Amino acid sequence: MRNTRIVEMLEVTEAAALSAARWMGKGDKTAADAAAVEAMRKAFDNLDISGEIVIGEGERDEAPMLYIGEKVGAGGEEIDIAVDPLEGTNLTAYGQPNSLAVLAFGPKGTLLNAPDTYMWKVATGPSAADAVHVDATPTENVRNVAKALKRDVEDIVVCILERDRHIDMIAEVRQAGARIRLISDGDVFGAVATAIEGTGIHLYMGAGGAPEGVLAAAAMRCIGGCFMGRFEFRSEEERARALTMATCDIDAVLDMDCLVATDEAAFIATGVTDGEMLRGVKYFGQGSRTHSVAMDNQTRTVRFIETVYQKGTEKFWVRRD
Ligand code: FBP
Repeated sequence: MRNTRIVEMLEVTEAAALSAARWMGKGDKTAADAAAVEAMRKAFDNLDISGEIVIGEGERDEAPMLYIGEKVGAGGEEIDIAVDPLEGTNLTAYGQPNSLAVLAFGPKGTLLNAPDTYMWKVATGPSAADAVHVDATPTENVRNVAKALKRDVEDIVVCILERDRHIDMIAEVRQAGARIRLISDGDVFGAVATAIEGTGIHLYMGAGGAPEGVLAAAAMRCIGGCFMGRFEFRSEEERARALTMATCDIDAVLDMDCLVATDEAAFIATGVTDGEMLRGVKYFGQGSRTHSVAMDNQTRTVRFIETVYQKGTEKFWVRRD
């Protein structure tokens, strides 16, 4: 797979972010998401790829665009694509930090097709990659990460989604002595931040969306961190759907080789709202500015990219008015 695709694909997340950010703080998460989806869809069709959406906006009957199985691109190299055009719809709608436009891609057949269910997840950066396990207790994970990073447990920050299902885990992490960064949404950020110096987050744990898990796993594969998951099905129907889609044992630990079965994956995210990892979209009189991260497994590079679009050059921008 050509890694020059990174630059082309960057335009795709930038288009989604530029369109979604117009809805920041307007209280309408559906409109923000729709703008991101439409822009991303348009941008894909400009690329010489034969892409298949393996993680997308849902099943064909529930999503008009970027549904699972949809073919995108103008024709060319066959690739798997995972997208979340607006990760953290509420974060954008209420002007809160760390909403992102995200995608990952890899050679055909390499990204896990995960249904819209939950996944128990654990993630940490390269320095502690061997220190965590999805089946370990929160206390064990916190202690092992502290040891790997040569810090006291008190110096470790764990990112956790603020949900009732995490009450016991939050209590246990506090008891263990670590500090906690609670987030209301957006666990792709939560997981990936563990591998980005300066975010102040060392460990991510908890249950969140399974599709978001595959996206985060792609980033961690590129950057040499650890991501591990386990499906948490809410119904037999979800389980049955996973059985028809997945290529590995759906009851086993989902390790990196199952989630992202390639050394040629890439992950790109563009900030929609400001956050610890990326700055959000800025609009100014003469144009707009985006801030993105692009991770390439092939070259083992992590690029932070700032793009300035001069007014009128935002090809795929879905405008509010
Ligand atoms: P959106 O789909 O509104 O962007 O929400 C994203 C998210 O917060 C993910 O980051 C997370 O994995 C998932 O939702 C958590 O799901 P739930 O809100 O059902 O706990």
